Amino acid sequence: MSVSLSKLANAIGDSPTLKINAKARALKAAGEPVIHLGGGEPTYPAPQAAVEAIIQKAQSRKIKYTPSSGTPELKAAVLDYTQQHYGRRYEPANVIISSGAKQALCNFLLAAVDPGDEVVFPAPYWVSYPEMVRMAGGTPVIVRGENGKLGVTAEQILKAVTPNTKAILINSPCNPSGQIYSEDFIKTVVEFAEQENIFLVMDDIYHQLVFDGQKTPNACAYAKEGKNLVIINGVSKLYGLTGLRIGWAVCAHKELIAAMGRIQSQSTSCNCDLSEAAAAAALNGDQSCVQDLCRILQENRDVLLKEAAQIPYVHVEKPAGTFYSFMDFSHYNADSNALAQYLLEKALVAVVPGASFGAEGYLRISYCADQASIVEGMRRIRWALDENAPKEIKIGDKLVTRD
Ligand SMILES: Cc1ncc(COP(=O)(O)O)c(C=O)c1O
Repeated sequence: MSVSLSKLANAIGDSPTLKINAKARALKAAGEPVIHLGGGEPTYPAPQAAVEAIIQKAQSRKIKYTPSSGTPELKAAVLDYTQQHYGRRYEPANVIISSGAKQALCNFLLAAVDPGDEVVFPAPYWVSYPEMVRMAGGTPVIVRGENGKLGVTAEQILKAVTPNTKAILINSPCNPSGQIYSEDFIKTVVEFAEQENIFLVMDDIYHQLVFDGQKTPNACAYAKEGKNLVIINGVSKLYGLTGLRIGWAVCAHKELIAAMGRIQSQSTSCNCDLSEAAAAAALNGDQSCVQDLCRILQENRDVLLKEAAQIPYVHVEKPAGTFYSFMDFSHYNADSNALAQYLLEKALVAVVPGASFGAEGYLRISYCADQASIVEGMRRIRWALDENAPKEIKIGDKLVTRD
């Protein structure tokens, strides 16, 4: 018998996205021609400025602990970014740099949530939200669209608020649906949260990755003092710098940021010195890479939607941003875990089950891979599901037949 684990360890599930990635990686390592449409990172190369900053920092041979809540250079770059994109000038005491937006969110929840507190967010949601809220001792309150539809109204969010609500959490554009919450939605939620003294966390990690000339509404535009408004962002998606692990939180509430800093200093001490230098360089450098990335992602989205239209009974709302689409495959199997498993084993295509995002019957299909992989992946999915698709298909160098 082994020594028992904590209640927390036993209560927290694996990240399903990381789990599917691990299985796909193992199949690939075994030589199988896996197509990965489950990913959450652009394959785009790192901006040159970030690469040069890492080299320069490494060559200085001074790779040390940094100030716990972030280097002054990176904080200054984040404050400039915030002014440019949100129209508000904050001070260094209003920002904390963390190891990814994920740690910034965790820090916030640990600093704000007590047992019994509720955190309200709409479905479909990013897979980590419920587990992160539970890790902080809180209760996730998930708001679902009416009549099984995706998408919730601001009024539905407001209705879910109780005297126990500590925070509302909005991710726009949304992972997994790619939908942007409307200007009216954001205005209503911002004004309500400020009036009711509830934290409003805007997970803006995809806010610049939008298509067709659209813009993500800026929550700061509707806040007065905004002491309850926490903006989370980072370099992972914007520059494809997922491996740096740099994200941040900005809030007018300096005591909140200081508390998040204390929590961070007692857990990870500080961020990686090399990563902070690279993130500052990316933020201060040429931003044309962001437009290039959006253009590529928009083209990829259009290719994906064209392929999806070939698969009968699959419904999808055109994503307005991110690099995800959320497709209704319930005609083929209402159990999205079983369907994702089947597609990985049968067609060697990795996608993420909708159940993980709080929407059963859906699959999240990413379009951050190259276009040839998107076309091939969707062709295999169609072959595996549609009885009118050609019975035989070549997967790698094998000719396989649908049973
Ligand atoms: C909605 C959302 N928020 C936050 C994150 C975390 O980003 P980071 O890599 O900066 O931790 C992700 C990553 O997938 C995400 O999809």
